[in-house]
Amino acid sequence: MLLSGQVVAITGSAVGIGRALAVACAAEGADLALLDIDAPANLETADAVRATGRRALALDCDIADAGGVRAAFARILDELGRVDVLFNNAAVYIDTSLTRGTFASQSEGYARSIEICALGGYYCTLAAVPSMRANGGGNVINLITEHIKEGHMMAGLGSSGYDAAKWVQWRQTESWAVELEPYGIRVNALGPGATDTPMLRAVSVPHAENGMKPEDVALAALNVIRQGPKGPTGQTYIFGISGQPREVGRREAEAILTRSEGDRIP
Ligand SMILES: NC(=O)c1ccc[n+]([C@@H]2O[C@H](COP(=O)([O-])OP(=O)(O)OC[C@H]3O[C@@H](n4cnc5c(N)ncnc54)[C@H](O)[C@@H]3O)[C@@H](O)[C@H]2O)c1
Repeated sequence: MLLSGQVVAITGSAVGIGRALAVACAAEGADLALLDIDAPANLETADAVRATGRRALALDCDIADAGGVRAAFARILDELGRVDVLFNNAAVYIDTSLTRGTFASQSEGYARSIEICALGGYYCTLAAVPSMRANGGGNVINLITEHIKEGHMMAGLGSSGYDAAKWVQWRQTESWAVELEPYGIRVNALGPGATDTPMLRAVSVPHAENGMKPEDVALAALNVIRQGPKGPTGQTYIFGISGQPREVGRREAEAILTRSEGDRIP
């Protein structure tokens, strides 16, 4: 199996894409470290992992808290022994419009958007890299978005905080890929289109119902890993552009396996 003997850490593992990633990695033989602030739902993900026969460590961890991340990864190393794959998947979609809400609500929402994706992803990667180096390699996969260039403001969603956070994660992908290549650690980003998760349902139920399913994103993620230790790094794979039938996104997720380059973001 692809991930036999490996440990996969996933942030935002309680629901949506994170849960699908957990179940897909367990089916490929991995043990799972599950980091989320939604403890009850995260335990359900852990149960789903254990149902496949793999180990699951559910950690109640706010990844925007550096000390909490440090403690969580210390527990992962203590109880599961290593980290081979990290998915920086946790995010929040908060209305950060400059023309709605109050100063307090909008400024807190903007800070939270950046803290979780940009800082939280950094903290988790910082904590995971020593084990990957000790193992002789690994994979970091950042979940960004199909709209990395134009953002979601075009749809009037007031999402400049989310878009800025995703832009940072895109930039981190390329920078970390260069920095970590000598250690055999690949760093890539996935930019899925609309996917049926609690996050998208909170914004638009029709978009969620017509979009991809979380397991399609998990297929794309496993195909990035299947590219192998010498596979592409620093790439962004955009797939399942919103508005297309689900089957198109699924085919694009499958095609990642044989792609030597991601999509260029001019
Ligand atoms: N759903 C889509 O259409 C879509 C499209 C493109 C990209 N993405 C990206 O995919 C990723 C997963 O999205 P989703 O739709 O499954 O989201 P979701 O909101 O359905 O799930 C996100 C999970 O992250 C957790 N989380 C939030 N803040 C956290 C924190 N501070 N610490 C730990 N966990 C935290 C939540 O509790 C939740 O379990 C995100 O990075 C998102 O930006 C989603």
